[in-house]
Amino acid sequence: MVRLKVDHVSKIFTDRPGETQVVLDDVNFEVRNGEFVSLLGPSGCGKTTLLTMMGGFQDCTDGAILLDGVAINGPSPERGYVFQNYALFPWMTVEKNVAYALKFMDIPEEEKKARVNNALEMAHLTEHRKKFPIQLSGGMQQRCAVARALVSRPKVLLLDEPLGAVDFQMRELMQNELERMVREANITVVMVTHDVSESVFFSDRVIVFGREKGRIVGDIKIDLPRTRDRSSKEYEGYVFQLTNLLREAFKGAVVK
Ligand SMILES: Nc1ncnc2c1ncn2[C@@H]1O[C@H](COP(=O)(O)OP(=O)(O)OP(=O)(O)O)[C@@H](O)[C@H]1O
Ligand SMILES: [Mg+2]
Repeated sequence: MVRLKVDHVSKIFTDRPGETQVVLDDVNFEVRNGEFVSLLGPSGCGKTTLLTMMGGFQDCTDGAILLDGVAINGPSPERGYVFQNYALFPWMTVEKNVAYALKFMDIPEEEKKARVNNALEMAHLTEHRKKFPIQLSGGMQQRCAVARALVSRPKVLLLDEPLGAVDFQMRELMQNELERMVREANITVVMVTHDVSESVFFSDRVIVFGREKGRIVGDIKIDLPRTRDRSSKEYEGYVFQLTNLLREAFKGAVVK
């Protein structure tokens, strides 16, 4: 079943009257229910723009993004979003950060409490629930941001470089944790990343964008069992293949 459909999507920014920039031009792809899809591509190619449109934070200039066949227009608890660098509220404790995602949902207080407890449990943050973000490690902050995105039980989870600002060793640990949470939540995910290995580690499919206007230069299925072994030959093969695609994308050439 198709969960998300990016249907002839274009995005044009007009900074000043008469000055327009076509960031995405007629982009098309689908994400199936339960799939983990990564978006990979050169800086500035429009990945975040596309993800924010899936989040409903900005509109498509042309075309539409459909969730279960219904055009997205505006943010909704149906779509959990993790912003780059986690973006937690610094003045709220861990549990308040997570609970915030339920604030505007019409469900009973008891149910809200149960969901927050469950999300904290899943993120292994129960004992840190009264702490403020500044008191947490990078890994805990990231898990808190994911817990906040999952607590509303969304249909899709949208991640914009969720591990962007993390050093190499920490990154692998956090990838393992994020993978565990996503598997437990059994959810459809679209993730923007710069990191080729990360895209292979997580994804069922990796979509590679070229430098211009959101042109898709590769749509690669990653056919490896989970949890993935980063040191296996097959894993390295995918990293090699995607790195080559990206290299061509940087040049602006199309590779089939
Ligand atoms: N609100 C906006 N107004 C005008 N131009 C914008 C706006 N948002 C993004 N852009 C432009 O759109 C292009 C794509 O930006 P976007 O942030 O989507 O790229 P990206 O692929 O996520 O890049 P990165 O990998 O560096 O995060 C850039 O040229 C950017 O300057
Ligand atoms: Mg971006």
